[in-house]
Amino acid sequence: MAFGLKHLLGLEGVSREDIDTILNAADSFREVLDRPIKKVPTLRGVTVVNLFYEASTRTRISFELAAKRLSADLLNFTTSGSSVSKGETFKDTVRNIEAMKVDMIVMRHACSGAPKFLTEFSSSQVINAGDGSHEHPTQALLDMLSIRQHFGKLDGLRVVIVGDILHSRVARSNIWGLKTMGASVAICGPTTLLPVEVEKMGVDVYCDISRALDGADVVNVLRLQLERQQSGLLPSLREYTNLFGITSERKRLLNRNHIVMHPGPMNRGVEIASDVADGDDSVILDQVTNGVAVRMAVLYLIKGGGSKEDE
Ligand code: CP
Repeated sequence: MAFGLKHLLGLEGVSREDIDTILNAADSFREVLDRPIKKVPTLRGVTVVNLFYEASTRTRISFELAAKRLSADLLNFTTSGSSVSKGETFKDTVRNIEAMKVDMIVMRHACSGAPKFLTEFSSSQVINAGDGSHEHPTQALLDMLSIRQHFGKLDGLRVVIVGDILHSRVARSNIWGLKTMGASVAICGPTTLLPVEVEKMGVDVYCDISRALDGADVVNVLRLQLERQQSGLLPSLREYTNLFGITSERKRLLNRNHIVMHPGPMNRGVEIASDVADGDDSVILDQVTNGVAVRMAVLYLIKGGGSKEDE
């Protein structure tokens, strides 16, 4: 098993082989999570820092659990209560944390490119936990793991991503990853929330939800970022729900064997109806469980498990 990445900053340009390696390792770690003692000694002696400059529930907690399940030491940094409020710069904050001898930094930041900037002056290995509207690679990996668990493959499936594609790091990472793995990807949303020239990413583009869902295997529903309404990009939430909300009626357009996904947090009754979110075809909570396994796999592989030197 060879793994080629020192950091995980995004899925753009990551090879099919490396994605397969992560998903296969996550399958193994998923089994660890079902044991009575959910812990392995794999990263004993390694120190991981969760450096979160933006709010998070799922990503931060699952990275914390993943590190602990691998027996690593874990530090949590969030801006509230830190010296950031006294004006300490990002670079000074990181340099001070690194002076305490840490090995890996898991980072979320509102600015696209912040994790890449971090690699330019830090000696730690960096994992992007979501940067601005750029990428959220571990979310896309856990999404792909959830799809693969249901269908046994990614190749040849038709995946529709619905919502605010323009501001979505989840959509961008899913598009790069799914395309690399041989799936066909369609996006659907209001024209004001679709990136210019998004077709160049190799996706089919729809503004009509019925046409987008027709015969699809997977619908991945994005959170409607409610703050976009103030920016004038959306006329009203009611109109968005009428035109793009995923309801049980619209779900009938999908392939008979289908799954419904959402990265969370959900706005129930806005982008997704409650009965769809909690229905038999929903894998939303499986995605959360898979998030721990995927993050265990990423921490393990980035730290050197399966490195070319091991062969
Ligand atoms: N999906 C996701 O990134 O959720 P959090 O913002 O809660 O981490």
